[in-house]
Amino acid sequence: MDKLNLELIEAKKRLVAIEEEKKALDEEYKFLQDKIHLYFDSDEYDTDETQKYIIGDFWSKAYKNYKDGGYITNDEYISKVRFSYEVKELETIIKENIKNKSRALDIGCGNGRYTKEFAKLFDNTVGIDLSQERIIQNNQENQNPNINYIYENFMTMKKDALGKFDFVFVGDIFMYTPANDVENVYNNLLKLLNKDGFLVIRESTLIHGNNDWKSKGYVAYYRNVDFYKSGIFEKTFVNLYRNYGYSLYYLDKYFNIFKDARKNVENNPFLLKDIVPKFVDKSLKSSHFYLYLEKSLYKGKMDEK
Ligand SMILES: C[S@@+](CC[C@H](N)C(=O)[O-])C[C@H]1O[C@@H](n2cnc3c(N)ncnc32)[C@H](O)[C@@H]1O
Repeated sequence: MDKLNLELIEAKKRLVAIEEEKKALDEEYKFLQDKIHLYFDSDEYDTDETQKYIIGDFWSKAYKNYKDGGYITNDEYISKVRFSYEVKELETIIKENIKNKSRALDIGCGNGRYTKEFAKLFDNTVGIDLSQERIIQNNQENQNPNINYIYENFMTMKKDALGKFDFVFVGDIFMYTPANDVENVYNNLLKLLNKDGFLVIRESTLIHGNNDWKSKGYVAYYRNVDFYKSGIFEKTFVNLYRNYGYSLYYLDKYFNIFKDARKNVENNPFLLKDIVPKFVDKSLKSSHFYLYLEKSLYKGKMDEK
């Protein structure tokens, strides 16, 4: 046989071998995936550590995998609208409630877009995130000496490592916290507050019920609006602000039909307050801001009653 034909037969043999390897890998993939899903679906086993691992793994890659890693979307228009809307709402919350504007902390700061906004209102701002890559990039790009970005996992960090703050913002942490850890995380957040300090959390919420989304690729705990106002939260809860963040995905339909709306909303994100209740299904996931105050202030409030 000539050299060419020998080469081609070898190529065919290699293709067959690759196909077999692929088949075996596919089978292993499916087996492992089913194993995770099966244990996740059962209530009999404690799989919290695996869920936490999947959350950490997801977020450490989110900034590489999505155009907008913070909102995990590739739709930049929707991100822009959501961000400007949230910033306006946060500004109002801060101005209405926080008198002492010395130190702010942004937990889960991602690319630091909120951190930079807080830095306009506070003397000093710290942003922490468990995405090391993102924190390195933030520090390389940072030109504001009053902002510090720190690579930290809030769940495992030393609680007094960062000191105390007048304002702590948490962008979606509880929705990545298993039920067993919620109380601990919440108490640790309150410990970060100065006397008179305020905590604002933004969480993706359901109007009714709860939905633990657990899969091999993504884990999140969607709790209902009242969850963050009752139980352990009740004592320090102050106010609830509606924010339509997550529902913005579904606004696409609206923007497709009413084409002028994009420009109008871009100029005035608060138009969403009218649009969303009318055109976006209320049962879909959305975000809320929750405001809490430091415990000593709460006691004062109670004594007055
Ligand atoms: C929904 S994103 C929000 C990012 C940013 N605040 C924004 O809105 O653009 C949640 C962020 O929290 C971070 N995160 C999740 N769990 C964390 C933890 N235990 N400690 C610190 N950061 C965490 C993720 O890496 C991610 O950047």
